[in-house]
Amino acid sequence: MNLRYRKTVIAGNWKMNMNISEVRNFIAELRPHSLEAKHCEVVLCVPFTHISAAVRAAKGTKIQIGAQNCHFEKSGAFTGEVSAQMLQSAGCKYVIIGHSERRELFGETDKIITDKVNAALEAGLRPILCVGEPLTVREQGSTLDYVRCQLRAVLSECSAENIRKITIAYEPIWAIGTGLTATAAQAEEVCECIRTLLRTTYGARVARGISILYGGSMNAGNAAELLAREHIDGGLIGGASLKVPSLVDIISGAKQ
Ligand code: PGA
Repeated sequence: MNLRYRKTVIAGNWKMNMNISEVRNFIAELRPHSLEAKHCEVVLCVPFTHISAAVRAAKGTKIQIGAQNCHFEKSGAFTGEVSAQMLQSAGCKYVIIGHSERRELFGETDKIITDKVNAALEAGLRPILCVGEPLTVREQGSTLDYVRCQLRAVLSECSAENIRKITIAYEPIWAIGTGLTATAAQAEEVCECIRTLLRTTYGARVARGISILYGGSMNAGNAAELLAREHIDGGLIGGASLKVPSLVDIISGAKQ
């Protein structure tokens, strides 16, 4: 983290979990802790059906609500899809785009992801853009090239003004939901490489203001060590964000 230049973001990715009454109880329990969390932005990315209830429950707190996906068109004949405008009108501030589960299970390409990022920006949402390598790529020693390539696809269509509104999450696929975490050194190496690419594309001032998160089995036990690194500005947290105590511990670990 480098609090002088950028915001720390602790974002929960609830995936396809929880029901609406659990959302209300969760936020009611998190509320007093979130008021103390002045040092970071706390975001809960909930299923579409839970957004309105979450926004209502989080009213008067600093907790921001996000979605986990959006469509790239504004409206039209896209049965089952939800547009970025719809999310914005429901009270979302953030949207996760390009999560590896979307890329792998739902065939999302770099082109689709780029279009979704642009749709989210146009709707006034803050995209959390996910990148990260599968295990085979790490074993071949090509992680940095792989991640740079994923990122370049989006950057090539993104202005310096818009990139400031994007949060990037580095999520090695082999660490997601596996209990395996990248070491702080591995995660820092990739996050630093991402910042270098941002610097060469947009210049040093823009690059140093962008928050880069780590995701992949982040939990209360490893968060502080990861977040102590210069280029890791927060976490995108799956499993450990589903229980208030572990999320609160991670938020506390984000204090320098
Ligand atoms: P995990 O998920 O923390 O359960 O590994 C992270 C993510 O998929 O964003």
